[in-house]
Amino acid sequence: RGKRAFIAGVADDNGYGWAIAKALSAAGAEILVGTWVPALNIFETSLRRGKFDESRMLPDGSLMEISKVYPLDAVYDSMEDVPEDVKTNKRYAGHSNWTVKGVVESVKQDFGTIDILVHSLANGPEVSKPILETSRNGYLAAISASSYSFVSLLKHFIPIMNPGGATISLTYIAAEKIIPGYGGGMSSAKAALESDTRVLAFEAGRTKNIRVNTISAGPLRSRAAKAIGFIDMMIDYSSENAPLQKELASDEVGNVAAFLASPLASAITGSVVYVDNGLNAMGAGV
Ligand code: NAI
Repeated sequence: RGKRAFIAGVADDNGYGWAIAKALSAAGAEILVGTWVPALNIFETSLRRGKFDESRMLPDGSLMEISKVYPLDAVYDSMEDVPEDVKTNKRYAGHSNWTVKGVVESVKQDFGTIDILVHSLANGPEVSKPILETSRNGYLAAISASSYSFVSLLKHFIPIMNPGGATISLTYIAAEKIIPGYGGGMSSAKAALESDTRVLAFEAGRTKNIRVNTISAGPLRSRAAKAIGFIDMMIDYSSENAPLQKELASDEVGNVAAFLASPLASAITGSVVYVDNGLNAMGAGV
């Protein structure tokens, strides 16, 4: 039987989630995605109209199939947590079962189980502010959307994950080194995500033989990264200073995710794996 993957955080064909979906699909996995509720309509319309057909192309010439797109807002665990203004917001009101609990129940009903869980989402409303100017709410929102969202997804998916499964998230070097401009508590959120990768690897490994790893990715011009505002500078910095002087392709991250999710990586868990042209290894600029 082929494996089934749920990838949370795909809303266009520019981000890491899309590239990971493609690499998993090329390796034979069935693909389910979770798309942020406010981005869902435009994503599904674009898919249906063939806007992504060119980038759905796999190495063997076939097109990636997405079995189902689920609406998801990973900052809410269940309907009781959702404030009234979000419930009645017209972008949310037309959809159902989009809390973490709701999505997992829907996936269980539709497919029974999954083997691979990918977390490729982050949000920090005050990301453009230095941490000293970040509000408590902004900081907590960054942690909620970017770190706890993974804990919650894993917690809810574990009961329907097959033993031997694998989970992967995306992190950034700002968790461990100073990256000016990556503010709003996003650096803190990535540090939490990396620490949780280790603790969750222990807990999920002991209870269900599930592996937990995170990919520390280099800069990519995704929608989320463009919103931060310094992505072109980070890409230039990397090509000037990294050991490998090429622009990082999202497929390079996708391929490592497919490796980490496969039996080839059966002894790797609790790891931060760098896919960044080696930039993390530099101690000084060139
Ligand atoms: P992206 O824009 O393709 O992906 C972020 C996704 O998160 C979007 O689809 C957005 O709709 C979704 N999202 C935001 N809030 C959500 C919520 N509450 N519930 C559900 N979905 C939500 O951008 P990218 O850059 O590919 O981001 C994917 C991951 O890669 C993130 O964790 C990011 O921090 C990480 N990363 C990105 C780097 C870059 O340079 N682009 C570098 C290192 C890590």
